[in-house]
Amino acid sequence: MHFRPKGAVQIGQTHRVTQGGRLTIMTAIYTASQDFSASAHVDAAGYDRLYAESVKDPESFWAREAQRIDWIRPFTKVKDTSFAPGNVSIKWFEDGTLNLSANCIDRHMIKRANQTAIIWEPDDPKTPAKHITYTELLEQTCRLANVLKAHGVERGDRVVLYMPMIPEAAYAMLACARIGAIHSVVFGGFSPDALANRINDSEAKVVITADFGPRGGKKTPLKANTDAALLHCDDRVKCLVVKHTGDQTSWVDGRDVDLKAEMAAAKPYCPYVEMGAEDPLFILYTSGSTGKPKGVLHTTGGYLVYAAMTHQITFDYHDGDVFWCTADVGWVTGHSYIVYGPLANGATTVMFEGVPTYPDAGRFWEVIAKHKVTQFYTAPTAIRSLMGLGAEWVEKHDLSSLKLLGSVGEPINPEAWNWYHTHVGKGAVPVVDTFWQTETGGHIITPLPGAIPQKPGSATKPFFGVKCVVLDAATGQVQEATETEGVLCITDSWPGQMRTLWGDHQRFEEAYFSQYKGMYFTGDGCRRDADGYYWITGRVDDVLNVSGHRMGTAEIESALVAHADVAEAAVVGFPHDIKGQGIYAYVTLMKGIEPSDDLRKDLIKWVRTEIGPIASPDLIQWAPGLPKTRSGKIMRRILRKIAENDFGALGDTSTLADPAVVDDLIANRMNRG
Ligand code: WTA
Repeated sequence: MHFRPKGAVQIGQTHRVTQGGRLTIMTAIYTASQDFSASAHVDAAGYDRLYAESVKDPESFWAREAQRIDWIRPFTKVKDTSFAPGNVSIKWFEDGTLNLSANCIDRHMIKRANQTAIIWEPDDPKTPAKHITYTELLEQTCRLANVLKAHGVERGDRVVLYMPMIPEAAYAMLACARIGAIHSVVFGGFSPDALANRINDSEAKVVITADFGPRGGKKTPLKANTDAALLHCDDRVKCLVVKHTGDQTSWVDGRDVDLKAEMAAAKPYCPYVEMGAEDPLFILYTSGSTGKPKGVLHTTGGYLVYAAMTHQITFDYHDGDVFWCTADVGWVTGHSYIVYGPLANGATTVMFEGVPTYPDAGRFWEVIAKHKVTQFYTAPTAIRSLMGLGAEWVEKHDLSSLKLLGSVGEPINPEAWNWYHTHVGKGAVPVVDTFWQTETGGHIITPLPGAIPQKPGSATKPFFGVKCVVLDAATGQVQEATETEGVLCITDSWPGQMRTLWGDHQRFEEAYFSQYKGMYFTGDGCRRDADGYYWITGRVDDVLNVSGHRMGTAEIESALVAHADVAEAAVVGFPHDIKGQGIYAYVTLMKGIEPSDDLRKDLIKWVRTEIGPIASPDLIQWAPGLPKTRSGKIMRRILRKIAENDFGALGDTSTLADPAVVDDLIANRMNRG
């Protein structure tokens, strides 16, 4: 056991925590040690003072905070934002100009030319890690930018990245930012169809991919998937391929480009362009409660200020620290906390190609020991699955470099929090449970480790500038009492907020600002306790969170009904010990089609091909019919209850067109745990 005074210590009484209405345990409150707080960027008094300023006088607060990045032309306007119905408009620092790649690289060349910017840890621990300095990062980014230019990519053009976790993914993001192109990273676990949809929706000119993506000893055929996707795209889309594993792939002359070879031949410097603060930086598709995935759009200035600030303050990052976020660059967490936030702060950031359990369940801890990681940031699903494999995997490695642990992506249950804190943090380091979304750009509710005592399971308090309200879900009334429960909305803008949905501002307004007028609706439910702490209880809309991956039930349903044997489908979530939520599908087959285990397997395979493995249903129930109102609306509330194996209190079923359907669904339910 390493017991150092730098971390979290327990204070106060234990208190009761209820999660998901089911689980009640006693837990403690933890606060950072005096040493930690003394050197932290923000202490308790600092949080109260700065938070008050940030919401009372956002103009001066953010004008000052924006100085953490370099502007080419300083802004004169700070905030011009409106959540008013029919007129939602969000602009920050709008007349300022800057370049994001210059902020993440060039400006560090004076002090940090030889400092490691990225530590790349490959899937196979026998392959040597790479330490990429800021000088090398500049050169590689410039070379890649020059290749993009040579293939006709100009300011404002879209570039899709479908890549493994390799340094070229970071070079590509930064190269786009350097020349003003808009990147859209598509997670390597998505299927060719999902990739094609995203290429087409963003009208991308170029796709950047790799031959294969190694993960956990297996190889994802990224190039073959891209070939399949491009069959459905404009013929002019170019495909830049990183020959990463070197395995054979097909090759289309005139369309496919050997990226490494062209980078080697390109000029090593590329000037950066002057971008407006509100020029688009990236599109990231994410799932909503209805329809196809939404292209969340982030712009340059406000996003970077917010990513850099939250990275520094939430993780209490200091010079010399080694920061590791285990996310994939295909998700927003990878954008803000592997690439942009850390690099804007001149940090050393770890990029990991592999998985937590390969070659064994000690891999995370081995990598922490190997690279002397100081801040480690991962998802509850990973913590829960490693917890299940036993603490002995942790104990084998020297984790004394750790100063802080972080969690993101879904509510963390207090057991997992306590295990993480006790076994990984040796009871001595703060744990920051960061709540945020693709849409928010960075953390919006999170402990600041030197300032806010942590209660396991609570994301604690709002970040600077974020004005949270809890509304009664049914009436939309703002709950004035401190201790309350309802849905979480935000009443004013912060710089990291998304600006619109790519090509569909109306949908943006409808999806986020129409339910509770004049407010940003997160889609999450929450509870606020007597100390003003927020406890996120999960999505209240039809969005699932499976292993920290966001998925729309509508997307999975439309994949299922696209199968020739399926007449109708309804998808809901159910509690899952490791994944947080599992995917439960009710399927009605076409007349004359007999249910069978083979068909069940076939449907799972089908969804994997249509969307990707992350969307595979865990349970499929054959439903002779779905519970519908007389007007034909599916009563999801009932389906959710049955999937949760909690069918005692289904509520009023008298409005159903055919109440007998429910009895059949209960009798044949798949989750009896
Ligand atoms: C959930 C990931 C509880 C939430 C950064 C949110 C969380 C959705 C937490 C966004 C947390 C994320 N506690 N729930 N600390 N972090 N969520 O867009 O439901 O992939 O709405 O962004 O994840 O998922 P997204």
